[in-house]
Amino acid sequence: MKLAGKVGIVTASAGVGIGQATVRALAREGASVVVSDVHERRAKEVSESLKAEGYKAIGIVCDVSKWDQVESMVKQTLDAFGRIDILVNNAAREIIAPIVDTTEENWDLIMNVCVKGTFFCTKAVLPTMISQKSGAIVNMASVDAYIGNPIGECAYCSAKAGITGFTRVTAAEGAQHNIRANAIAPGVVPNPYLEKVYPKEVLQEMENMSLFKRGARPEEIANIVLFLVSDEASYVTGVVINASAGLYWSP
Ligand SMILES: NC(=O)c1ccc[n+]([C@@H]2O[C@H](COP(=O)([O-])OP(=O)(O)OC[C@H]3O[C@@H](n4cnc5c(N)ncnc54)[C@H](O)[C@@H]3O)[C@@H](O)[C@H]2O)c1
Repeated sequence: MKLAGKVGIVTASAGVGIGQATVRALAREGASVVVSDVHERRAKEVSESLKAEGYKAIGIVCDVSKWDQVESMVKQTLDAFGRIDILVNNAAREIIAPIVDTTEENWDLIMNVCVKGTFFCTKAVLPTMISQKSGAIVNMASVDAYIGNPIGECAYCSAKAGITGFTRVTAAEGAQHNIRANAIAPGVVPNPYLEKVYPKEVLQEMENMSLFKRGARPEEIANIVLFLVSDEASYVTGVVINASAGLYWSP
């Protein structure tokens, strides 16, 4: 098992998408995991189901955009497991609207969850990782960090671009402490939210833009996280891995 003895936090890991697939992948590889999510009941349900399968897991309610909740998540993790080796900043919010209809409130919500949340969680785990002289952080960006998407995602695209910049700074500051930081830029990963906000044919069109003519399964993105947090990626830091199967060619 690649992650035996390690402890990993995955934010927003109680949904049906990449977060839960990731927390399950880390647990399967031997890590003790924190199922962190703003949705308290689902965080408990996912952590209980992992425990029932024999894995070490705790569920913690945490809105990543609230510093006191992030601090408390880190404290509870240390109380339960005594160390933190892995942080996956997966939480995001998206509201579809053209620039002229995007309210300040919606802009702030998206920025606060995506960018400030990534900053808060990273800031909160770094002292522990620095004292351990090791750590691996993965931030969930998006191909929207690169695409001038005309479908009404000005705040989301800006936030995901911000995450790629923050990833490089985390890598630069972390290197002296043996802490690596990388990001993943998925293309389309179909889920009930996307099926609700986009007409079926629009979603199909987006999936058809990939070379495989389909979206990714959450597990396919989780596998990239697994690689990035494992020792196999010991010389990989500061990069954004394009996980869109040719939907977009990153610079
Ligand atoms: N689904 C896609 O097509 C796609 C494409 C590119 C990038 N991404 C990125 O991948 C990540 C995961 O997306 P997903 O669609 O697989 O969903 P997911 O299932 O991984 O995450 C949804 C969860 O986020 C939680 N959440 C929402 N706001 C939160 C907050 N403030 N604090 C903590 N948790 C919060 C929700 O309660 C829900 O359980 C996101 O960062 C997203 O931007 C997704």
